[in-house]
Amino acid sequence: MTSQIMIRRPDDWHVHLRDGDMLNMVANFTARQFARAIVMPNLTPPVVTVAAAAAYRDRIMAALPQGADFTPLMVCYLTDGADTEEIARGYEQGVFAACKLYPAHATTNSAHGVTDIRKLTTVLETMQRIGMPLLIHGEVTDRDVDIFDREAVFIERTLAPLVRDYPALKIVLEHITTAEAVDFVKASGPQIGATITPQHMIINRNAIFDGGIRPHAYCLPVAKREQHRLAVRKAAVSGSPKFFLGTDSAPHAIGRKENSCGCAGIFNAPYAMESYTQVFDEEGALDRLEAFASENGPNFYGLPLNEGKVTLTRQDVVVPDVITEGDISVVPFHAGETVRWTFADA
Ligand code: DOR
Ligand code: ZN
Repeated sequence: MTSQIMIRRPDDWHVHLRDGDMLNMVANFTARQFARAIVMPNLTPPVVTVAAAAAYRDRIMAALPQGADFTPLMVCYLTDGADTEEIARGYEQGVFAACKLYPAHATTNSAHGVTDIRKLTTVLETMQRIGMPLLIHGEVTDRDVDIFDREAVFIERTLAPLVRDYPALKIVLEHITTAEAVDFVKASGPQIGATITPQHMIINRNAIFDGGIRPHAYCLPVAKREQHRLAVRKAAVSGSPKFFLGTDSAPHAIGRKENSCGCAGIFNAPYAMESYTQVFDEEGALDRLEAFASENGPNFYGLPLNEGKVTLTRQDVVVPDVITEGDISVVPFHAGETVRWTFADA
């Protein structure tokens, strides 16, 4: 039985680092494990300008210990009024790594999101031309579509036509949760990739209703049936270069989760690599972890691979029930459970 693996330092291709006190609390959990991260722009107000992204990047670096070896990759939040020139300039200057499409009202801080993708024609044409990736929260928001079907319906109604109309546009379907998403990505060309979270490989929708309502198991897209969990898990460990690591770590203070209208989001950053490694181990695929965590993402984005190494050791760790700093307490993914691997810098 393998007791230790050493892999190239990984990256997180989808994370919420927040701002202010929460940023100061959570940033180092991500920077400790990952060399780079694609940082979601759903702040209040959302990150829509080059200047706002550069200032946010500075705040992230200021939240980390001096000299931290971490590069935040910034993302432009698309609105109905998205400014094509600003987006292209941000990409050319190396400030924006990608744009994020939130359908309006799909999730946390998406009120300024896009109401109709046809409003983005010029933006999408430009992104396709300059090779700038489009990151998609792939859920329809129609109230008559069942919440468990929203990803599959989005693929059919919005994503398939988008891929047809912009055949060279680089697209990442974020945090996939369904067999339909796996099948769509696999059947598409190399310009279409997907990120996979730990939680969507580990829990199915029963976890949200396990003996009572479990707000800390609630994120969006919501966990689906068991058959979908198995399909997503299989895709991650398959070795396909189209699937890569994106935690979607999304911290909310405990009172905002344990609430009559609890926020969506699972805070998995503190034990992210432990969680992924455990899944790959259970699937007999430890030899494919490095590609998923450290190679497929940079290859998709056209970025160099990281030089450093990290180690994962087969050693139990008990995850705390809650992580507190100052006035903020957040419940981590796996709270109170034992994970079977520990992470260390090589
Ligand atoms: O669960 C989620 N939380 N899904 C999202 O899409 C947004 C995120 C957040 O920002 O809290
Ligand atoms: Zn997210």
